[in-house]
Amino acid sequence: MKLAPSILSADFSDLKTALRQCKEGGAHWIHVDVMDNQFVPNLTIGPPVVKSLRPHTEKVLDVHMMVMEPEKLVESFAKAGADFITFHIEATEDPDGLIDLIKSCGCKVGISLKPKTALEEIYPFLDKIDLVLIMTVEPGFGGQGYLPGSSERISKLKAYLNTNCLERVLIEVDGGIKLHNAKEIIEAGADVLVAGSAVFGTENPVETIKAFYQIKEK
Ligand code: DX5
Ligand code: ZN
Repeated sequence: MKLAPSILSADFSDLKTALRQCKEGGAHWIHVDVMDNQFVPNLTIGPPVVKSLRPHTEKVLDVHMMVMEPEKLVESFAKAGADFITFHIEATEDPDGLIDLIKSCGCKVGISLKPKTALEEIYPFLDKIDLVLIMTVEPGFGGQGYLPGSSERISKLKAYLNTNCLERVLIEVDGGIKLHNAKEIIEAGADVLVAGSAVFGTENPVETIKAFYQIKEK
């Protein structure tokens, strides 16, 4: 299991501290929530911020684009230093073109889907991508509760990957993940856990990150 703390819940005036905390805690990835006030009702981070973060961390920069017309931003995020670029299946009519574009920019490709979107919508693209980001809250804001039925969705995707020789595709889970439900989510099949408020909303983010890594599967 890898943890991807989401800087959405960090202090935007002091992101260097958030990166330092991720390093000290041993987090593998940094999750960057990009919102455009169209695909979701919130407005957050763009390529210039990713560019500013890049020299201050060696971690994987995991860019989660919650935007309409994601193809317009891919090159900028790649140039800024993104490692993974994830788009929403609901936000494009040309997933194949977008996958090829992200790859041509030298980045790994993720597809995300909202809680109410059928898993089957992404099945045709699984053999071309590196990661599926399953949303377990409605995208837009940190600090929401993990939606019931989400672990069953993760298990269903995991089983599909296993039976179709697609085990190399990572399952990342995003929304409402806390120390108390992380074990269930890992056991359902998650490879990467995103945690925003659970990390940066606590007194001691470094210790919280370490605690996530101490969770043991059955
Ligand atoms: C929500 C974002 C999440 C968010 C998670 O739209 O995609 O990454 O930061 O926040 P928590 O962990 O607080 O639910
Ligand atoms: Zn996210």
